[in-house]
Amino acid sequence: MTAPALTLDGVSCTFVSRDDPSQRYTAVRHVSLKVGSGEFVSVVGPTGCGKSTLLNMSAGLLLPSTGEVHVFGQKLAGINGRAGYMFQAESLMPWRTALENVMAGLSFRGIADARQQAEDWLKRVGLGGFGDRYPHQLSGGMRKRVSLAQTLVLDPDIILMDEPFSALDIQTRQLMENEVLDIWNAKKKAVLFITHDLDEAIAMSDRVVVLSAGPASHPIGEFHIDLERPRDVAEVRTAPRFVDLHKAIWDVLREEVLKGYKQQLAA
Ligand SMILES: Nc1ncnc2c1ncn2[C@@H]1O[C@H](COP(=O)(O)OP(=O)(O)O)[C@@H](O)[C@H]1O
Ligand SMILES: [Mg+2]
Repeated sequence: MTAPALTLDGVSCTFVSRDDPSQRYTAVRHVSLKVGSGEFVSVVGPTGCGKSTLLNMSAGLLLPSTGEVHVFGQKLAGINGRAGYMFQAESLMPWRTALENVMAGLSFRGIADARQQAEDWLKRVGLGGFGDRYPHQLSGGMRKRVSLAQTLVLDPDIILMDEPFSALDIQTRQLMENEVLDIWNAKKKAVLFITHDLDEAIAMSDRVVVLSAGPASHPIGEFHIDLERPRDVAEVRTAPRFVDLHKAIWDVLREEVLKGYKQQLAA
C-alpha cells in the first residue's frame, strides 16, 4: 500500500509567550489527519481555531510540540520540499514582474527553461499577456492568479492552501475556485485546503474536516463529499445533495463558530 501524501499523527502545538514563558497557549491538540495522494481535503473551523497552525506544521514551517508529520511515509524534518503553499496574504515580490515572480522558484533551482515554463503557467491561469506587469499594476484577482502560477509551476506533489481566495469578490473567487479544480482534475495532486467558508469547502473537496474552537482545537467531524465531478462551484451549490451536506456539516460547525466568536469578543 502506498503511504498517504500527508499524515498528521497526533500533532499538538503549544505557543509559549516570549515575554513570559509561563504563559502558554495550546492552539491544537492531538490532531490526526491524512491526505491521500490525489485527494482534496478541506479543513474548516472558526477563526483563530488553529487552521493556519496545522498548515504551517504540514509545510514544515512550524515544528509540532508533540506528534509527527509524515510526507509520503517519511517523517518530516525541516521544510516540506514536496509541498507548494499558497497563503492568504499577498506573497508576490513587488519589485519583480508577474513573469519574474512565477519564474523565481524555477530559476532558484537552476531550471534551464524556467522562462518558458513560467510563461506557460501564466497562460494557464489566464494571464498570457500580463507577464511584464508589476504586482501593483494588476487587480487583486490577477495577483492571486500569479500566486497560483507561482505555486504550481514548481509541480509540487502536495498543495497547501490557506484561505487563498478569501480577499476576493465572490465572482472572481468562484472563477478561481473552478480554475483550481480544473488544474487539480488534470494533475490529481494531494491538496490540503484551509478555509472558514463551508460552501467553498464542500464545493471543492473530496472530504471536509471540521475543527473545534480553540484552545486545544481538534477534529470533531469528517464528511465525505460524494458530489459528482467535474463540478462547477457556483452550480453545485444548488444540488439537493450539496444542501443536505451543508446542513449536516453546519450542525457540527455552528456551535464552534459561536464559541470562537465569543472568544474573539472576550479577547
Ligand atoms: N506565533 C504564535 N504565537 C502565539 N500564538 C499564536 C501564534 N500563532 C498563532 N497563535 C494563536 O494560535 C491560535 C490559532 O491560530 P491560527 O492557526 O492562525 O488560527 P486560524 O488560522 O484558524 O484562524 C490563535 O489563538 C492564535 O492567536
Ligand atoms: Mg488562518
